[in-house]
Amino acid sequence: MEQKELWFIANWKSNKNVSEALEWINTVGPRLHNNPNLKVVVCPQFTELAEVKKAVLINNYPIIVGSQDLSPFPEGSYTGEENAKEVKQFADLSILGHSERRKNFNETDQLVAEKVKQAIKVGIIPLVCIQNQNGLVPEGVKLVAYEPPDAIGTEHPDSPDNAQAVAKHLKEMRGDLKVLYGGGVSGETAAAFIKQEDIDGLLIGHHSLDAIEFIQIIDSCSVV
Ligand code: PGA
Repeated sequence: MEQKELWFIANWKSNKNVSEALEWINTVGPRLHNNPNLKVVVCPQFTELAEVKKAVLINNYPIIVGSQDLSPFPEGSYTGEENAKEVKQFADLSILGHSERRKNFNETDQLVAEKVKQAIKVGIIPLVCIQNQNGLVPEGVKLVAYEPPDAIGTEHPDSPDNAQAVAKHLKEMRGDLKVLYGGGVSGETAAAFIKQEDIDGLLIGHHSLDAIEFIQIIDSCSVV
């Protein structure tokens, strides 16, 4: 059977300085084989993006660099914003609409849809996070992460069966979607999600911070 394409996305959230980020990259990078079906993505804070991208390029590591957000506006007078065109210098994917942003920064579906438009315009893959099977998936989005907020930051992920049911429902609504699961994933639970027919990968937060643990998660799914 042909191996399905699998995504393993490390969401570092608001953690790591430049030297910690580079140590992680130089630990994970050499341990990954070049496997076209394995998409490993790391999403640092904006302040680490340039150095992380440089390290990936110089060492030719099979790692995609992503951002955790981007501006809903193009370049211009938007103080403090990181516009998609400049983010694209370093990142090929952006996590958009994470529940921590919806909760702490009042992000709405409408705002997320604007960010998606900006990402698509410059060729950044928008990875949209939704909280349940009725979450809005803006037009043009091909990659979503189902992340039940109660599971995030805990050691209690959703059940693989339920995540599979949500993923299946989403794909029935939109045939061209890939669906990741995120929220409380660790080395103990990762493989049970990956085994589900409609789950195409994992978005991993606190258990991605340790480089060796992150590799072990990928390894536990037999795809390092
Ligand atoms: P967690 O976070 O793995 O720490 O639960 C996942 C996420 O919020 O993307």
